[in-house]
Amino acid sequence: MPIIKKIHHVAVVVQDIEKSLLFWRDALGMTLSQVKNVPAQNARIAFLPAGESEVELVQPVGIDSGLARYLEKKGPGMHHICVQVDAIEPMLEQLKKLGVRLINENAMPGGDGKLYAFVHPESTGGVLVELYELPEN
Ligand code: CO
Repeated sequence: MPIIKKIHHVAVVVQDIEKSLLFWRDALGMTLSQVKNVPAQNARIAFLPAGESEVELVQPVGIDSGLARYLEKKGPGMHHICVQVDAIEPMLEQLKKLGVRLINENAMPGGDGKLYAFVHPESTGGVLVELYELPEN
């Protein structure tokens, strides 16, 4: 059986990362570890570690992306929870067997040896869930 290791990150979709940092970094006092552009996802992403997990702020870039449409439709807020699993393919097989609706049927390469897949909110209680397998496993 695949094992969930931890909550890896919680992602919040925002209009403007700099404005959001006024709360997360300046008011809460969290450390900003990095901000990067992810052209493949039409997004800018900021990472703020919190113990073993991190808060990820995601800002859509441009108007023609799934993320931009999400922000347009639902407004800023919780976007997804990411759980780290020791073995993502066996986990996806297990979920498929149980009739869980997946957005990615197979694990996708996410760079730096990372694998990821998304589970549809319909099967999770209404929240988008991301699965990660990291090379450190
Ligand atoms: Co994520």
